[in-house]
Amino acid sequence: MPITIGSKTESDYSNPLGLLSDCHRRIERFLDALILVTNRARGGELDKDQRNALEVGLRYFREAAPKHTLDEEESLFPRMHACGDARARSAIALLDALRADHVVVEAEHTVIDALGKRWLSRGVLPAQAVERLAQLLDQLHLTYQRHIAIEDQEVFPVARQILDRAELTNVGLEMAMRRSINLTALESHLRILAPRRKMTSSSRRHDSLIPLSREHQYGLMLCMRIHRGLVERDADSNWLQLKASHAVRFFERELVTHFQAEEMFLFPAMEGMPGSTEVIDQLLTEHIKIRRLIDRLLQIEVTSLATTLKEFADTLEAHIRKEERELFPIYEEHASPETISLVGPGIFDLIGSASRPRHPELLK
Ligand SMILES: [Fe+2]
Ligand SMILES: [Fe+2]
Ligand SMILES: [Fe+2]
Repeated sequence: MPITIGSKTESDYSNPLGLLSDCHRRIERFLDALILVTNRARGGELDKDQRNALEVGLRYFREAAPKHTLDEEESLFPRMHACGDARARSAIALLDALRADHVVVEAEHTVIDALGKRWLSRGVLPAQAVERLAQLLDQLHLTYQRHIAIEDQEVFPVARQILDRAELTNVGLEMAMRRSINLTALESHLRILAPRRKMTSSSRRHDSLIPLSREHQYGLMLCMRIHRGLVERDADSNWLQLKASHAVRFFERELVTHFQAEEMFLFPAMEGMPGSTEVIDQLLTEHIKIRRLIDRLLQIEVTSLATTLKEFADTLEAHIRKEERELFPIYEEHASPETISLVGPGIFDLIGSASRPRHPELLK
């Protein structure tokens, strides 16, 4: 049951109100996915797709959705209050109730997150906990339905009328900074609506792919450390165990979301681009292989660690190079502005700007 993110054109930071509404669509989809998993699996063992949907959904509400709340509470609502325009009165009267909703949903998400994590770590969830989870998700569904309708249909249209271009630009700027997008990257976001920009092999990576490319560098660094170490230390069991634990932790902390960003946003958006199908099929198979190698690293005897570590580093390195050399150039050649505006924010939502490794100690 893969999560479908949809193919509707998304907005960018030059259109912050459009971006806020796009974010509502993501809230609805991720919440629907959590509800579907809960109703289908009912606390039982999760299959691969269900586990993936649960992990991604929980992560979305833990990391990305709170930034959306801050976008409204710290950037948009105060500007509406301050503008003094009479047309804003009825919409402003709604803002306190919306803020109160934010507090309620945050508390509900905290409990949902704890229950979901328990399900993921233990493999099953007791009946009583499932009931609680399902009930909270239903409550959230109702709250979001009402809340989002008010924002999309009453608050944002008024904001569009009463806030001038400069105010809206500042809202967009603050939203970008909240996501650690530096100003150079922001400039590229503001260019997203520009006509398609073809890139030659000598030009640098397309901006919407830069977070993935940065993480590729970290991945290559890990592979290099493993390859170099294996030359002299392939019989050193302490070193082998340390490197295996680095590989597993790097996978859990960097690669899981990296693969999700590719599988949820990049690969589906590239469907139909010339030459993409075969490469994407290979890359998906390699994602599965890398996941399996990590499972093996967790289970095998120390005596086979060197071989498996080498296979992991060989596979990951070749995979990254294939994405950089074969997949990304296809995207850069063929992605329309609409596709780019879907892929860029989607990747940012999941992995941020990736301007530095989350755990540099794993790459030493
Ligand atoms: Fe809201
Ligand atoms: Fe990949
Ligand atoms: Fe990748």
